Amino acid sequence: MKACIAGTGSYAPAKVVTNADLERMVATSDEWIRERTGIRERRIAATGEACSDLAVQAGKRALTAAGLAATDLDMILVATCTGDYPLPATACLVQHQLGATKAAACDLSAACCGFVYALSVADAYVKSGMRHVLVIGSEVMSAITDWTDRNTCVLFGDGAGAVVVSASDGEQGILSTHLRSDGTLCELIMVPGGGSRTPPSEKVIAERLQYIKMKGNETFKVAVRTLEEIARATLSANGLRVEDLDLYVPHQANVRILKAVMERLGLPREKVLLNLDRYGNTSAASIPIALDEAVREGRIKDGSLVMLGAFGAGLTWASAVIRW
Ligand code: UT7
Repeated sequence: MKACIAGTGSYAPAKVVTNADLERMVATSDEWIRERTGIRERRIAATGEACSDLAVQAGKRALTAAGLAATDLDMILVATCTGDYPLPATACLVQHQLGATKAAACDLSAACCGFVYALSVADAYVKSGMRHVLVIGSEVMSAITDWTDRNTCVLFGDGAGAVVVSASDGEQGILSTHLRSDGTLCELIMVPGGGSRTPPSEKVIAERLQYIKMKGNETFKVAVRTLEEIARATLSANGLRVEDLDLYVPHQANVRILKAVMERLGLPREKVLLNLDRYGNTSAASIPIALDEAVREGRIKDGSLVMLGAFGAGLTWASAVIRW
């Protein structure tokens, strides 16, 4: 018994914010953003458009692609760090909107690794008897972005991607997942205010602690090291070589990070999916959005060998290999 990807879907808000738009908001330039990150534009949710709204659209598209009804779902997992509310879980709002009357629903918090972590949970549940699990990565990063901080506001975007994970008897499916964490590095990427350690207050607002803070340069170095390490461990666990891969779908944070990883692994550019020029860093949504694009563009077909790789706040890092 394996867990396979039965369908993919994604959704991006209509509003496009270009680097030129950001030049009018903070002391930055299109040239700096493109050269240092690879990002040209990002999608930003409309006022009142929340995480579950994006997730529902992506989820519907994944269900259609899988040829399933919402009532077929046993579980909905939403990977996010920007849920609609501190509680209830965004997955419950999605469950209601989809009409997934038989599904359990909960959120998973592992920042940019959330989707790969949630995929591994779905894999385990399907292997232990569930038939269909909807895994969604959905983020409204614009809600936790400090639009006066040039160090971070040029990086992030909003969006959602989803996959239906279903039981399968054949060769296709998730071959393995690999999850890691190192909490000693928790301060590299953090939203310091608004949680139980520093609950919302006037001081939190005045000091802008409700927004994401990042030590970008240190994170960059750890990202390159961890992505390489986990990719090698994942290939070796499956007796695979880099040449066996048809496509590497990494978390889309910075094109320079990904170029360094490609170089270290000996992965040619045409085997790596890069779409951060159009979306920026959408955290847990970045890998499922990229997967959906790759499927719809025919870059992933039945039989393709696909590796995922992610890293993010926590720190966490994670990977998966899938025979499509
Ligand atoms: O998914 C979550 C994981 N997060 C990441 O993967 C982020 C990883 N880090 C990065 O992508 C990069 O570190 C950044 C893109 C965030 C920054 O690039 P960098 O090459 O590491 O630049 P830096 O932080 O070392 O800053 C270089 C200079 C600084 O000026 P000085 O001190 O040299 O005068 C910054 O103040 O660039 C300046 N700078 C900017 N200049 C124009 C920082 N942000 C900007 C900006 N526009 N937006």
